[in-house]
Amino acid sequence: MSIKDIITVPSETLKKISEPVEKIGINEKKLINDLFETMYSSKGIGLAAVQVGILKRILVVDVSTKQEKKNPMSFINPVIKNVSKEMSVYEEGCLSIPDTFIEIERPKTCEVEYVNINGKKEIIKCDGLLSTCLQHEINHLDGKLIIDNLSKLKRDFIIKKISKIKKNPDRIIV
Ligand code: NI
Repeated sequence: MSIKDIITVPSETLKKISEPVEKIGINEKKLINDLFETMYSSKGIGLAAVQVGILKRILVVDVSTKQEKKNPMSFINPVIKNVSKEMSVYEEGCLSIPDTFIEIERPKTCEVEYVNINGKKEIIKCDGLLSTCLQHEINHLDGKLIIDNLSKLKRDFIIKKISKIKKNPDRIIV
């Protein structure tokens, strides 16, 4: 297992649509392990393969609270079905958009059809944080980011700010 570098904006890769996975082999299993390790080390609750530069429809989440046991969940070729009319709002961050939080409204509940690591089709009913988190991650597989709903002015401002942070090395006094 290894921790991968997470791609941050601005990036053309993050806008790309990920390809469906046809066969779950050793590479896909290793990728899922790497995604978990990378997600946990960055203190995120979800991570899509595209965020480490691999355009496969694979993502991992863990929405357990600090007090609970870890609950790693992986999803291959996930599809959102039966979204609720009722909406909920979370202030969302994204590992690919550092230090930025945006209020996003999404359907409160949904069902997600996916293939598990053993190649079996499954369907999961999601509510609350899991519902929001999976919708956010599945958006990544379609090249969509939480800043896409903002005005161009606001979006450019955020990207400019992050680009500046990326360019400036850490300042140290020794
Ligand atoms: Ni994200």
